[in-house]
Amino acid sequence: KTLENGSVNWSSPSNIALVKYWGKKEHQIPENPSISFTLDHCKTTTTLSFSKKETSDSFSFDVFLDGEQKDSFKSKIETFFKRIECYLPFLRDYHFKIETSNTFPHSSGIASSASGMSALALCLMSIERNLSSALEETDKYFNQKASFLARLGSGSACRSIEGDLIVWGAHKEIDGSSDLFGVKYPHGVHQNFKNYQDTILLVDKGKKQVSSTVGHDLMHNHPFAIRRFEQAHENMSKLINIFKNGDVDAFVKIVESEALTLHAMMMTSMPYFILMKPNTLEIINKIWAYRNKTNSKVCFTLDAGANVHVLYPENEKETVLEFVKNQLVEYCQNGHYINDQIGFGAQQI
Ligand code: PMV
Repeated sequence: KTLENGSVNWSSPSNIALVKYWGKKEHQIPENPSISFTLDHCKTTTTLSFSKKETSDSFSFDVFLDGEQKDSFKSKIETFFKRIECYLPFLRDYHFKIETSNTFPHSSGIASSASGMSALALCLMSIERNLSSALEETDKYFNQKASFLARLGSGSACRSIEGDLIVWGAHKEIDGSSDLFGVKYPHGVHQNFKNYQDTILLVDKGKKQVSSTVGHDLMHNHPFAIRRFEQAHENMSKLINIFKNGDVDAFVKIVESEALTLHAMMMTSMPYFILMKPNTLEIINKIWAYRNKTNSKVCFTLDAGANVHVLYPENEKETVLEFVKNQLVEYCQNGHYINDQIGFGAQQI
C-alpha cells in the first residue's frame, strides 16, 4: 500500500519508576530491570502529519511544541529516526510535521522524554499499520513494537505505552520480561496498590543539571555499579511478593531506598553530582516526620532531579493532600505541584 498523506494522533503518559533504570549498555539495553507506575494526567499529545516526498534521500520533519517551532528538538528526533529506520523503512519517504503539547508545563522539571517519545513511537506505528496490507496486527504486537521503538528514543519511554504497572528489563521471576521493550506486570497485585496516587512537588523547574544520557554513562566504571545492578534484581523480587501480599510498609522501604540509591549513584560517580536541592531534603524529612506521628503510608520517590513524587494509597487522598497543602507546598517553586495517579497507558485520539 502507498499513502500520499494523512495524520495520526496519540496521547501518551509519563511514568514514575519504583525500581530505577540507571545505567545502560549499547543500543539502549538497560543494565538492570526496572518497574514503574504509568501516570494518568501527565501526558504528551502528538499529532503526526505526513506527506509523500519526491525523493527518499534524507529525513525531513518539522517539530512544534504548543504551536511554536522547536528546532532544538530536531537533533534528538534525528538520532531517534536513525536508530529506528531499519524497523520502519518508510521514514525517508515522507515529510513529517510533529505537533506536540504536554499537559504539564514544559519548564516544570518533569521529564517529557518518556511521554513525548512514546507518543511519537505510537504515531509512527499507526502510520506503519495504515501502510501495511497484512492483516491487522494484534494489539499485543502493536504495543510491543511501539515500546521497542520508544525505548530507542528514551529508555524509560518504553514503559509509557501501557499501564498500570510496567516492567522493562529481563528478570528471572517475570515471564516475558525483556530488555527490548516494556511488558505489563504479569503477577497479582493486591487491592492496596490499586489507584495509587502521585503528587509531584515541583521543587526546581530549571533545566536538568545532568542529562540522563550523561547520567547513564556515569555508571560505566562506577565503583558500585555491579552491586547496584544486583540490588535492582533483588528489589524486583521483593516487590513481587509485596504486590502479592499488600505489604505497603515494605513497599515504602523499597521505593524510598531505590530513590536514594539513584541519587547515591550520582553522588559517587566521577564526576559527581548532587541533584537534590535543600527543599528536596526538607520535604523528605517532613514526609518521614508525618509518617512517624500518623499511621500514614505516604512515601517519596525521585527522578534524576530535585522534584519529589509523593506516593500514597487512594484511601489517604484527602489527608495527604491536606498535609501537602499545609506542610509541603512551601518548598515548591512558586507553590507548584501536580496531583496525579496511576493510569492505564496511551490512547489514540
Ligand atoms: O529514559 P531516560 O534515559 O531519560 O532515563 C531516565 C531514568 C530515570 O528516570 C532516572 C529512572 C527511571 O527508571 O525512569
